[in-house]
Amino acid sequence: MLPEDIQGDLTTVLVTEEQIQERLAELAAQIDADYAGKDVLLVGVLKGAVMVMADLARALSIPLEMDWMAVSSYGASTKSSGVVRILKDLDAALAGRHVLIVEDIIDSGVTLSWLRENLITRGPASVEICALLRKPDAAKVEVDVKYVGFEIPNDFVVGYGLDFAEKYRNLRSVGILAPHVYE
Ligand code: PRP
Repeated sequence: MLPEDIQGDLTTVLVTEEQIQERLAELAAQIDADYAGKDVLLVGVLKGAVMVMADLARALSIPLEMDWMAVSSYGASTKSSGVVRILKDLDAALAGRHVLIVEDIIDSGVTLSWLRENLITRGPASVEICALLRKPDAAKVEVDVKYVGFEIPNDFVVGYGLDFAEKYRNLRSVGILAPHVYE
């Protein structure tokens, strides 16, 4: 799906398809160098990370495995309480492995902060994070993210995996959703 297919639903295209692919190639080159010769497991966080996982994994030259988790907050208060629930756990065991969590966006930081601590308890050799987008102005918890694609303003963004009411995930770019869509 292209921005012109949903004309009026976006106020701005924030990151184009080309910019995303260019930045992912840069991140992939860094990750290739950092993880050369290591046993790497990419962990994608459903559902938003599906697009970035698919493109980043293909941009990488190193051998790797991919696994998936689905997590959710307990009700409305949880984003601030930091309580996250596992809806689907990993298939892989992490002992001794180099884990790279792949995410579409870091908003408050609550999900990633919890997830990293959770995965560390499983005895991996390392746990790092790669996120395509980060909203510094929305941060409630500081998360140490080794690979960041773009820092973006604290607006309602959709596309490239990010949804509003499950829609717009298949938009090829990332855009700011027009208020009339969600108000
Ligand atoms: C989004 C995103 C992160 C999380 C980031 O997922 O994919 O997992 O929110 O927010 P945080 O930094 O405030 O914790 P969401 O819960 O919308 O689920 P989805 O990936 O299935 O759309």
